[in-house]
Order: sequence, then C-alpha cells, then structure tokens
Amino acid sequence: MKVAIASDHGGIHIRAEIMTLMEEMGIEYEDFGCECSNSVDYPDYALPVAEKVASGEFDRGILICGTGIGMSISANKVKGIRCALVHDLFSAKATREHNDSNILAMGERVIGPGLAREIAKTWLTTDFEGGRHLNRITKITEYEKK
Ligand code: RB5
Repeated sequence: MKVAIASDHGGIHIRAEIMTLMEEMGIEYEDFGCECSNSVDYPDYALPVAEKVASGEFDRGILICGTGIGMSISANKVKGIRCALVHDLFSAKATREHNDSNILAMGERVIGPGLAREIAKTWLTTDFEGGRHLNRITKITEYEKK
C-alpha cells in the first residue's frame, strides 16, 4: 500500500506521528508537506493528495489540519474520493468496512497524537466489507458521472 500524507500548519505534529507509525508498520508513504514555517491554505495540500489518490498513483491518503474539516471538505470535491473525518476508533473501523474511505482526515486541535496514531493504525489495517456497502458506494460513483 502506498499512502500520500499532508497537513497544513495546524497538523504538523500529528503528521509527524503518523509518518513514524507508517515507518514502524512498514507502509510506503510520501510526504507532501507542508514545510509550514508560516500559515498556509489547507486546499493547497488536500487537493493534490486527493488527486493522487483518485488517479491511482497512491492507494490511500491521510490529511491533517486544525479541525480536519477543511481538509475533508476539500478532498471530497475530487471525484472518486471518499474522505472520512475521524476522531474515534469506532468510526475509523466503520468507515473502512462500510464506506471504503480512501482518505482519512483528522484534526490536531481536536485529538492528541496518541489517539490519532491508534485511529490511523485501525484505518490502515481494516478492510472494506463489500456486499451491501458496495451497492451504496456505487450510487455515489454513479452520481459523480452526471
Ligand atoms: C487553520 O487555522 C485552520 O483553519 C485549519 O487548520 C483547519 O482547521 C480548517 O478546517
């Protein structure tokens, strides 16, 4: 699995934590910033990562900002992206099993690094269940073709 990861200035600490986690897990990833000595605009980081996942260049994406909201709104504008904003372990598992989410968004001003790490670990290791959930995702994919 290849993962694209990015954050704005509000998410640099959790981004570092998740990159360490992926190294420990032996997951290949590429870091798309930010360098972030100053305030930056989250769409400039969310949209390139979302496009790389939608094109198939990367299998999954992880985006972090202050709340995770700006990153998730932006990423979900890209066709083929199912970005889940997650701040609890139940949702981390459920969004992979039910939504086949391909991008995980988190907010560094909402949760701490320990929980973020466990959420990412769960999200990275949980498989999509398919079945009735696939029918639902197909409806979204069909809508995107309009
Ligand atoms: C940046 O101040 C903040 O607005 C951003 O990180 C994010 O929380 C937006 O949704």
